[in-house]
Amino acid sequence: MGGIECINMKRYKGILLAGGSGSRLFPLTQITSKQLLPVYDKPMIYYPLATLMLFGISEILIISTPKDTPNIKKLLGDGSRLGIKLSYKAQRRPNGIAEAFILGADFIGSDNVCLILGDNIFYMANQMDDFHKIIQKNKGAVICGYHVPDPERYGIIELDEKDRTLSIEEKPQNPKSNIAITGLYFYTPDVIEKAKTLKPSSRRELEITDLNRKYLNENRLNVLRMCRGTAWLDAGTPDSLMEAAQFVQLIGKRQGLKISCVEEIALNRGFIDDMQFCRLISRYKDNSDYKKYLSKIMEEKKRHA
Ligand code: G1P
Repeated sequence: MGGIECINMKRYKGILLAGGSGSRLFPLTQITSKQLLPVYDKPMIYYPLATLMLFGISEILIISTPKDTPNIKKLLGDGSRLGIKLSYKAQRRPNGIAEAFILGADFIGSDNVCLILGDNIFYMANQMDDFHKIIQKNKGAVICGYHVPDPERYGIIELDEKDRTLSIEEKPQNPKSNIAITGLYFYTPDVIEKAKTLKPSSRRELEITDLNRKYLNENRLNVLRMCRGTAWLDAGTPDSLMEAAQFVQLIGKRQGLKISCVEEIALNRGFIDDMQFCRLISRYKDNSDYKKYLSKIMEEKKRHA
């Protein structure tokens, strides 16, 4: 993602939803959670976590299954080493994405909230400023649209010629457009009450699309279309997992800059200072490329100071 100001005017908390059985990735997910599988050089969950951190969000609730939560906790802890605050909650059954707001009600309190799905990888290039503007003006919900070739796999937005939303549908058989709804959503605090009024769909889930439709019906749904040159990848199938890894490898190698490196983002966003950064990376194994990269970041920072 490109450089932006943090969301520091309107306060947002973050929810990272890392649940699900990962059945489309079987047998990879037999023992471990999908969100802990590697995407090139880091665990999948680093990517959505990095996206939240790039938005300046430092208080994050991670929701996962009872089985997977202990391992995610083992990996990320309470977040203090990255200068952020992580808490955890188990989702006992796969009751749908929108249940996150019911499980996270106490955590959200009276704050705005950004929800990100644990298998969604964003590369925003220069579009962070657009996000910043629309999120600051948010009077309900902000969702993101991304052009895809296979719209029947996603929530889909129908827009008029002025980019106003006409309808949204979950995995339609006859999609009205190619604009998919990504797994990144921003809401005002009334999302909790709205989520509580949802009824399970035919697949017995509280659907995020039904929740967003409530905002649409109140004329409080805003759509930000991600532009050309940005990337939105979901890593939920063997092919998309592989493609995501190749994308991360390619961009990272060509620029010599890593995508979604949470330590680097923590430093750049001011969540940790130089000393905390050095202390943090001193615990990493010397022979990893990841540590070499982080050490170089600090050397360059000192050189330019
Ligand atoms: C979910 C949402 C869908 C959205 C997609 C993005 O789908 O229901 O609207 O487009 O995430 O990744 P699911 O992952 O449940 O198939």
